[in-house]
Amino acid sequence: MNDTRTTNVEMMLVAGARPNFMKIAPIWRVACQSRNIAARIIHTGQHYDYAMSQSFFDDLELPTPDAFLEAGSGSHAEQTGKIMTAFEQLCTNHQPDWIIVVGDVNSTMACTIVAKKLGIRVAHVEAGLRSRDMAMPEEINRMLTDAICDRFFVTEQSGVDNLLQEGKNPDHIHFVGHVMIDNLFHQLERLETIEASRLSVHGVKRRLDRYIFATLHRPANVDTREALTGIIQAFNTIARDIPIVFPVHPRAQKQIAAFGLELSAHIIQLPPLGFRESLYLWKDAALVMTDSGGLQEETTAIGVPCLTLRFNTERPITLEMGTNKLVGNRKEDILRAAAAVLEPGAGNPSPVNRPPLWDGRAAERICDILADAGGA
Ligand code: UD1
Repeated sequence: MNDTRTTNVEMMLVAGARPNFMKIAPIWRVACQSRNIAARIIHTGQHYDYAMSQSFFDDLELPTPDAFLEAGSGSHAEQTGKIMTAFEQLCTNHQPDWIIVVGDVNSTMACTIVAKKLGIRVAHVEAGLRSRDMAMPEEINRMLTDAICDRFFVTEQSGVDNLLQEGKNPDHIHFVGHVMIDNLFHQLERLETIEASRLSVHGVKRRLDRYIFATLHRPANVDTREALTGIIQAFNTIARDIPIVFPVHPRAQKQIAAFGLELSAHIIQLPPLGFRESLYLWKDAALVMTDSGGLQEETTAIGVPCLTLRFNTERPITLEMGTNKLVGNRKEDILRAAAAVLEPGAGNPSPVNRPPLWDGRAAERICDILADAGGA
């Protein structure tokens, strides 16, 4: 850490939905050890079920948030509006030097707009990623957040290139690596010290030699009958040869029921898992099939083969490193791609080809830069 700093900096770390919690955890840890930074955690309440929220705070060793805004679910406008109204109230009562937003969920965009209109500086962690797919709510969130925030903390070179193309000030773009990977390494270490039998999914893993780990939640995959039917049919076929462990997101659960889809008995359906339970399963999977952004990156960092059930990715470095492949959501394409990974002798790509600066130290770099940038 940089010892020449003299300024005390107050930051608010904003998190609202499941993929945010692992991104604020490393920043929180570094801030706690710093003499120069005071950090507070704000939970917007976009996700609120124990399995989608509190279990992550427990696993990630995060304290109770300083404020919980109770936004909850709703249409995009309802949810965004509720977050903005509550966050404005909070920031009016307490103005930090920096608001830190992470990722691309509705909370990220909502809190950025509020903060900027109140004249508070905003730093975006995971800035610059672009899928060029405006049908994704996350792409809109990413673009609007980056349009007005003050500092861009970037995970991969494509993010830097995108921001420069959009005319952002190069002095405000910081390629720092990835806090999600900081968290992954930290949690892998913690997992080694935990008795496996204490994990609720230990029994599931023990009875499987070889398995696929699957997750699914994107509206483009679960909200239309055609897409979800194709994916579930592909899962049912693949599961005849190798079991699929499938923790089911609430959005996917609702849609599977709404479309009356049947899952094969060889698919082991689980409720949404906490961070550790999930990591414990996917890290040793023969293959991960997912539409998550984070899992594409985490599998890349430790060399687990991943098939991404999307037609595009805002994280092209994961394709360049060779572990991740885009396969879309059509049944035949998924079957062909899974067969290619699972065929005898295909094996894992090795050695693990890790993207630049994915070294577990991104949060330190972020805190150093913000401390140097100083308070108001
Ligand atoms: C949100 C994010 C997405 C992220 C995902 C991870 C946006 C636009 N989307 O999508 O980028 O990848 O989180 O999960 O911000 N629900 C519950 N319990 C909860 C939360 C939600 O049952 O704790 C149900 C609700 O019925 C809700 C539905 O899940 O309507 C979807 O939740 P929502 O927050 O709207 O979007 P996600 O699909 O989770």
